[in-house]
Amino acid sequence: MKRTLLFLTCILFLGNAIVFAQSKASPADPKMKAFIDGLMKKMTIDEKIGQFNLPGAGDIVTGQSTSSDIGKKIKEGKVGAILNLKSAEKIRDVQKVAVEESRLKIPLLFGMDVIHGYQTTFPIPLALSCSWDMALIEKSARIAATEASADGICWTFSPMVDIARDPRWGRIAEGSGEDVYMGSQVARAMVKGYQGSDLSRNNTILSCVKHFAMYGAAEGGRDYNTTDMSRLRMYNEYLPPYKAAIDAGAGSVMTSFNEVDGIPASANKWLMTDLLRKQWGFNGFVVTDFTAINEMIEHGMGDLQTVSALGLKAGTDMDMVGEGYLTTLKKSLKEGKVTIAEIDRACRRILEAKYKLGLFDDPYRYCDLNRAKNEIGTDENMKAAREAATQTFVLLKNENQLLPLQAKGKIALIGPLADNLYNMAGMWSVAVDHNQSITVLQGLKNAIGNQAEILYAKGSNFVDDPQLDLNINNTIIPTIDSLRTPQQLRDEAVAIASKSDVIIAALGEAAEMSGECTSRTNIQIPENQRELLKALLATGKPVVLLLFTGRPLDLSWESKNIPAILNVWFGGTQTGNAIADVVFGKVNPSGKLTATFPQNIGQVPIYYNHKNTGRPINAGKGDWFTKFLSNYLDVSNDPLYPFGFGLSYSSFSYSDLKLDKQKLTSGGKLTVSVTLTNTGKVDGAEVAQLYIRDMVGSITRPVKELKGFQKVFLKAGESRTLNFTITPADLAFYNSDLQLKSEPGDFKVFVGTNSADTIESSFVLE
Ligand code: NOJ
Repeated sequence: MKRTLLFLTCILFLGNAIVFAQSKASPADPKMKAFIDGLMKKMTIDEKIGQFNLPGAGDIVTGQSTSSDIGKKIKEGKVGAILNLKSAEKIRDVQKVAVEESRLKIPLLFGMDVIHGYQTTFPIPLALSCSWDMALIEKSARIAATEASADGICWTFSPMVDIARDPRWGRIAEGSGEDVYMGSQVARAMVKGYQGSDLSRNNTILSCVKHFAMYGAAEGGRDYNTTDMSRLRMYNEYLPPYKAAIDAGAGSVMTSFNEVDGIPASANKWLMTDLLRKQWGFNGFVVTDFTAINEMIEHGMGDLQTVSALGLKAGTDMDMVGEGYLTTLKKSLKEGKVTIAEIDRACRRILEAKYKLGLFDDPYRYCDLNRAKNEIGTDENMKAAREAATQTFVLLKNENQLLPLQAKGKIALIGPLADNLYNMAGMWSVAVDHNQSITVLQGLKNAIGNQAEILYAKGSNFVDDPQLDLNINNTIIPTIDSLRTPQQLRDEAVAIASKSDVIIAALGEAAEMSGECTSRTNIQIPENQRELLKALLATGKPVVLLLFTGRPLDLSWESKNIPAILNVWFGGTQTGNAIADVVFGKVNPSGKLTATFPQNIGQVPIYYNHKNTGRPINAGKGDWFTKFLSNYLDVSNDPLYPFGFGLSYSSFSYSDLKLDKQKLTSGGKLTVSVTLTNTGKVDGAEVAQLYIRDMVGSITRPVKELKGFQKVFLKAGESRTLNFTITPADLAFYNSDLQLKSEPGDFKVFVGTNSADTIESSFVLE
């Protein structure tokens, strides 16, 4: 059975302007249609509504699935899919109830948050995007799909493509940062990785693009909070990554918790039907986020029956966990509040997904216990995860080439993240086996054998405030050391550090300080850890900071005082080995930031592709403050580390920026070439970035927009000419009529090592 693919966006050239046509859904496979027509004829209203129900797995115990609460509902045809049930064995057991004990034997979907790898855990998504390597990102999703599908899972709640420009929002960790072009590239790569080219294969899984839409723009960076923005901003800055995922064939979409234009996303007909289906041609199914239907009661949209009807009518097909649909839609149908056509529409979409996955042919397609044994957590997958992690680390500072270190003498390894199995993989690692994680201590030891001595001390808690500690750990497992006071921890570390030649401080956020419901109003390294850093610096030994974080942090103090900072995010299962590869120079770091690091929290939101004001600071005399220009009294407008920033053990120079023509015509293309030279002493990769600026528009345009990048490996001393192509389509934007068009006029083009450090030229679009 062949997977039905969406047609990709088609581009219409109208005179010298361009309009994107909406992507079209391919016509339904006639065999599938006939099959589902036949099945739906047999279904009662209850069975149809049952398909909309997605309960959490709860405590289903293997062998007892029939008698569990969910088992009973499955038998009655009241469940369409199950959330977060782990293991092929359990899933087979539950699927058996559906296909042997329910009246119509309709198989279930088994969905899970496979966010950055499965058992072999890859770096968190924000880190992965910092690799700027789409093949690597696609491969990580491919491996995740292979492992998850070998363990019974056929549906992943990924990718999360919410543009995020606010590091207070902990879920910035789950996406690809602030940029719309980068976000769209990653969205495409991940969908391709999960779904492959044939969804019915047993190692491909259905992806679910989330959270539709604009979830990353929550006010104040507070999770689940209101978003409010103009349509122009939506179309130009927030929606394209979702659309890229849909155009790549994503089979399902998850609604976001937030409201959009005053209507919660799950009941927002404009979003779920007019935009998603009519304009974009999406033909998969829409699932809510966790209890998002019920939460509309708190949003002030009505009682459970009302909000459930609103959701269905808007085009939301499946109800995650809350059972609003299950318990009220039949009544609404009787009362004329929803129609049978609306129920049939949602039911068909869900059955189609099951059909495309091949579940009607073989409901146990993803439950091959041999695959589970042989294909999960393999050496090959672990190797890929290790390589991937090395590509995501961002070298933020390296005074006097302190890094890479030589494996000799005494190395002090200090910090709450230095020997901490549970904090390596990073947030939302649902299937990780923490015991397989490689800690920093283990990784360094693996790398150096007995060439050098490693002295370890914990040095500090993550945080010393017991309440904050409980909040971070979801009030389950306190992490504050019960045997030693903060002072004792610090003293122990200083004693060790004083005996060493160099100090590696593994500090930052705990894994659970980013991800869902982890908003912070202070985005510095916790105070007690900074105290530790100060004490370590006071020993006079060189200090390398290995920074663990799930978000951009305010590192103003560290950037002034610590000689070397390697941002390692959360690198997945192989973190320790990957860190050793980079720290000892086996791999030269090449990661580049995809989210701006601010000087302080007051600058947030701060992002490179902002609009100009009528009084930009660069209209001044070069000072960072000029009265009556758009600036702050107390700090410059510059970020601490700009978008695209990341150092290398080598250095790179850009020269000879050339355009093959000065005028770009409609239907034409322009080639931008630049010479990139590795001017350092070691081989390494550089991400060359191309930005444009539309100088005059019918609406205001950003000061810079990423439009291309190339990651290039160059030997020390090697030069290469890089060519980038620009077409009018790359210059298009949604105008005030929400039409995607490029406008003739002057453009600047910039190429460089990050968004703030570029060389430039210009051209005209005719
Ligand atoms: C809530 C989260 O917002 C969403 O991303 C996730 O997929 C669901 N819970 C299911 O766990």
